[in-house]
Amino acid sequence: MGFVSSPCLIISIELLLAIFCEVRWLVSMAEALEQDSIPYISALGDPGMKNPNARFGFEAWNFCNEVGSEAPNMGSPRLADCADLHCSTPSSAPAEIPGGLLLDKRSTCQVQQKVNESDNKLGTGDQFPTTEFKPYNDPDLYAVEKEMYLGSLCEVHDSTKPWHFWMIMLKNGNFDKNTTLCPENGRKVSKIVTGRSFPCFGEGCMNQPLVYHNRSRVVFSGEQESLVGGFYGTYDLDTNLTSGGANSFFSVSWQKNLSSGSWIVSNKLTTSTKYPWLMLYLRADATEGFNAGYHYGGRGIMRKLPESPYFKVKLTLEVKQGGGPNSQFYLLDIGSCWKNSGDPCDGDVITDVTRYSEMIINPATTSWCRPDNLVSCPPYHITSTGDIIHRNDTSRFPYSAYHLYCAPGNADHLEKPYDICDPYSNPQAQELVQILPHPDWAVHGYPAKQGDGWIGDPRTWELDVGSLSSRLYFYQNPGTKPAKRVWSSLNVGTEIYVSSKGMTAEWTVSDFDVLILGDSEFRSRQFL
Ligand SMILES: *[C@@H]1O[C@H](CO)[C@@H](O)[C@H](O)[C@H]1NC(C)=O
Ligand SMILES: *[C@@H]1O[C@H](CO)[C@@H](O)[C@H](O)[C@H]1NC(C)=O
Ligand SMILES: *[C@@H]1O[C@H](CO)[C@@H](O)[C@H](O)[C@H]1NC(C)=O
Ligand SMILES: *[C@@H]1O[C@H](CO)[C@@H](O)[C@H](O)[C@H]1NC(C)=O
Ligand SMILES: *[C@@H]1O[C@H](CO)[C@@H](O)[C@H](O)[C@H]1NC(C)=O
Ligand SMILES: *[C@@H]1O[C@H](CO)[C@@H](O)[C@H](O)[C@H]1NC(C)=O
Repeated sequence: MGFVSSPCLIISIELLLAIFCEVRWLVSMAEALEQDSIPYISALGDPGMKNPNARFGFEAWNFCNEVGSEAPNMGSPRLADCADLHCSTPSSAPAEIPGGLLLDKRSTCQVQQKVNESDNKLGTGDQFPTTEFKPYNDPDLYAVEKEMYLGSLCEVHDSTKPWHFWMIMLKNGNFDKNTTLCPENGRKVSKIVTGRSFPCFGEGCMNQPLVYHNRSRVVFSGEQESLVGGFYGTYDLDTNLTSGGANSFFSVSWQKNLSSGSWIVSNKLTTSTKYPWLMLYLRADATEGFNAGYHYGGRGIMRKLPESPYFKVKLTLEVKQGGGPNSQFYLLDIGSCWKNSGDPCDGDVITDVTRYSEMIINPATTSWCRPDNLVSCPPYHITSTGDIIHRNDTSRFPYSAYHLYCAPGNADHLEKPYDICDPYSNPQAQELVQILPHPDWAVHGYPAKQGDGWIGDPRTWELDVGSLSSRLYFYQNPGTKPAKRVWSSLNVGTEIYVSSKGMTAEWTVSDFDVLILGDSEFRSRQFL
């Protein structure tokens, strides 16, 4: 809006001109409204990833999004790289240069680290440097506290609401059914009894990874200075990365695109026979409260939470290696939590339900939802024009728009046939709506056909996630008020599901932004 109104303000001494300006301004305003460009504001602390300072958190999860036990000498699996780029011109008094990217040749930049390696090494039972954080002896509780502590070091106060970091999430899909580390639909059980099979090579298969850190440092390229850094590591505790013996591997690094100013976050994930199911996502999480998949408060980068149907997500994704046929590559994975009554979650894992929807862009992913397999379809589909098509309406239901649907394990009124989602892989029951590229989603900017946005086809997406997510079926008890669909976590990355041999996926993410309506705009739209 600023670029339209400011020339008018300057010449507003001339009354006539001022009126002319106002009319023009109103017209541009109306045009902009029509194009839906003006009312959206960024929900992120780092809109479009343009901040010159690095704000990256790291979290590793076991099968049910907890810690279980820490890897030897690694501390609690919560780390952060938060670094400010301070630039000054030697010829004059040191001065900070806003933006920090475009500098003249004589300038010198320095990095100010907000997090010390001693902070990243903190492990269960260790005192935090600040007494407000509790040094729990339970590794699951300690990790939550450590994330809060790291958040306090990284916190940025550049407007009314502070923010912390982008979150890099790594998860090990091994599950040892002989342990009682994971609850069943949120309930503690003394023994796991299930016909489901999970990968596990033997005792200790649910281990946390070895994580190494390249701290953010200044690099000079042409006339510009910027930060680069990364985290990398392996799940194989008995191999030595530097000598190249590791099997499973992950790496996430950040560097600036000097022409756009955006971070380029480069990701690599390799599975192995011992660790055949791994997940690596870049998450935009809520700065406070529950993040999807978690039952404690976390830290993140979304200062305001997007609510369906009015929000969009922009990002550039380049997939370099796919990760094999079982790599469920998520162009976007959106996560939230609400109860089957429609009430928001409150941390009671027995009645809370995490809800996820994921657009899988690996063209090797098939539709499990088929006319002869209705159990993997949601009960109905809502078209872009609002029509409801029941899954047994075989001539109209768009089966190929879905990979699978599965229902929450604590739902009492499910329509048969149904499949319950895996009851162990979250701290509470979960519901999943996994969708595939399809013309019926493409109206919201999503890929229309398989292969779109895949290897060799890097794209900048502007996804109307708000509209799409308001069309998805999610279970609620009959007669209850529909839940507010407020999303606390938006993720990009891949879940390489069990394969017989090691697979590698490699991709970059940049320009990530989450666009929501400003408060007043949101309220007025609710009455439209
Ligand atoms: C990091 O270490 C330095 C030097 O020991 C110390 O001055 C600083 O306070 C530490 N920072 C944090 C966040 O603990
Ligand atoms: C679980 O226990 C059974 C019976 O003792 C044993 O055969 C199996 O190898 C154990 N599994 C793991 C992953 O340790
Ligand atoms: C870490 O630094 C090493 C040495 O410069 C480099 O080879 C590696 O690619 C970096 N990895 C990440 C994830 O930053
Ligand atoms: C890993 O290998 C490197 C190079 O061979 C060696 O310097 C280092 O000590 C080894 N680390 C471990 C933990 O064995
Ligand atoms: C850097 O940004 C420019 C402008 O948006 C884009 O054309 C280019 O592809 C980007 N480069 C990389 C390596 O992402
Ligand atoms: C389809 O499912 C609906 C809802 O369960 C049911 O009312 C209808 O009879 C079914 N139609 C057919 C042809 O099975």
